[in-house]
Amino acid sequence: MKKINLSTLYTKKHPKEGNKATKISAITAYDALFASIFDPIIDFILVGDSLNMSFNGKPDTLSAHMDLMLYHTKAVCQGAKRAFVVADMPYGSYNTTKQAVKNAMRFYQESLADAVKLEGGMQKAHIIKALVGEGVAVIGHVGLLPQSVRGVGGYKIVGKNAQSAQKVLEDALSVQEAGASLVVLEGVVASVATEISAKLDIPTIGIGSGAGCDGQILVFSDMLGLFSAFKPKFVRTYLEGASLIQEALKRYVADIQGGNFPSPEESY
Ligand code: KIV
Repeated sequence: MKKINLSTLYTKKHPKEGNKATKISAITAYDALFASIFDPIIDFILVGDSLNMSFNGKPDTLSAHMDLMLYHTKAVCQGAKRAFVVADMPYGSYNTTKQAVKNAMRFYQESLADAVKLEGGMQKAHIIKALVGEGVAVIGHVGLLPQSVRGVGGYKIVGKNAQSAQKVLEDALSVQEAGASLVVLEGVVASVATEISAKLDIPTIGIGSGAGCDGQILVFSDMLGLFSAFKPKFVRTYLEGASLIQEALKRYVADIQGGNFPSPEESY
């Protein structure tokens, strides 16, 4: 299996002559087990700070910290041998260029992550530039920024009016200009995300931003029906994971109680 790299992802948007562009598939993973299941099928695995909510039961992503993200990134890298692995830089880990470089280098030195992702457009361009200058591959993230949710007072869709649409376009362009290799467009009105994807050379990865992006990402516990605290409109549930697991557990408990587990064949 050939390892997916930045050039593989770029070529999906800009195929060699005679080939058609193909969409990039991305998903989150937080451990080696799930990463190894996703690895043969998915192009790009994000160790997203969304794990703070879906795995750790916190109300938002803000309390995720470097050591937590490193722990999960190392685990994912154990399971993913083919997919491109991206480590999410947690809130407060890239406030200054010096701090960002130090923390991004920790991901490179202590795990096998292929790139880091950070949230923010124009105001974070200098940070992206500094990281790229140190040889770190960066994935940008513009539009709805979960790390700003307390500051802006909620999860707000971006691009609903001309001013907001212009701002997110400028953010995406600055991230590209600063040297990012891809950009996540989160919670952007579909027509605006389509326009940004057409204007940008680098691939765009959408989440809640319509079908016009160059690829799509979903949080795995949402799309596999494992996380049910809330379900955003953009999530498609591909598996009723929690119900299937609970059905299996009920059968297990019934077998234990009925004396049917373990059988002689399952005993030494
Ligand atoms: O943390 C995360 O999982 C993300 C994706 C939703 C893009 O940033």
